[in-house]
Amino acid sequence: MKSATPFRAPRILVPYSRLRPEEKMLQAAAERLGIPVDFRDASSLAWPDGFDAKAGDAAICRCVGQTHNLALARLLESRGVRTINPSSVMTLCGDKIATAACLDAAGIPQPKYSVAATPESAVDAAESMGYPVVFKPACGSWGRLLAKVTDRNGAEAVAFHKAAMGPSHSVFFIQEYVEKGGSDLRAILVGGEPVSLMRRKSDHWITNTARGGKPEPCEMPGKLILLLRSVAAAIGGDFLAVDLFETEEGWTVNEVNGQPEFHGSVEATGVDLPGKVLQHAWDLIQPGLDSAGKPR
Ligand SMILES: Nc1ncnc2c1ncn2[C@@H]1O[C@H](COP(=O)(O)OP(=O)(O)O)[C@@H](O)[C@H]1O
Ligand SMILES: [Mg+2]
Repeated sequence: MKSATPFRAPRILVPYSRLRPEEKMLQAAAERLGIPVDFRDASSLAWPDGFDAKAGDAAICRCVGQTHNLALARLLESRGVRTINPSSVMTLCGDKIATAACLDAAGIPQPKYSVAATPESAVDAAESMGYPVVFKPACGSWGRLLAKVTDRNGAEAVAFHKAAMGPSHSVFFIQEYVEKGGSDLRAILVGGEPVSLMRRKSDHWITNTARGGKPEPCEMPGKLILLLRSVAAAIGGDFLAVDLFETEEGWTVNEVNGQPEFHGSVEATGVDLPGKVLQHAWDLIQPGLDSAGKPR
């Protein structure tokens, strides 16, 4: 007779590759909330033996590398694990061209953009958009490899250098440069709801905190909440960071991060983001139950 698979209660798996401040915050929040969370150093494990993942579990994929998280999410989903974010949302947010297309289809305001397939047509696109423009890799983060271009000579230099950098740089994503008054905004959404907002100020035009941008808290106006909810409805997902520019015509959405770092937001706003994410993950797999599995 075949022996039955031993029962184990659903739990949250957190694969990580380095204990950054975010993962340490998640560990502390799990302890504080009494939510069963299995932290695993994915850098020393191989699928499937290293991961005790079962249908009904949730996983918050926290590797540093976005491609690692995407691969893990796809594997975990194949076993019926609910991943945060779903792999489809990681894919969408991991590609700025796909995100722009999705925001466009939903009528969400964003900086004007153009996508070109050759360096020649990228230069033509920059010329017709008018300078300055920003060339961005479709897949990238931490403000890396962004180029603010102010004239045709610059556009030619950037476009032809990018063309020589291989296939991942051979599609050109070009945005209008937005005068944003020395800062941009970062909102965090959990379960489709905006939960924190900070301003990132910098003397440099690139305001990422990873590049020295200084975070400070700010109030979330009601109209911005509505805009952010529409972003969540268009993109989907459980845990998003939405970067916005404030312009005279209103807010525009610059980027949606599907695997966000969030320690800057926690430090600036004091909002318990790790607790909110864990609670959200728990509610997905154990709706209506407390962390001991008893009705709430
Ligand atoms: N079109 C733009 N106009 C003005 N500033 C920009 C523009 N695009 C990006 N930036 C600045 O660069 C930062 C990083 O750009 P982003 O598109 O978010 O790339 P990454 O994924 O590397 O964070 C933004 O937070 C903003 O400060
Ligand atoms: Mg960004």
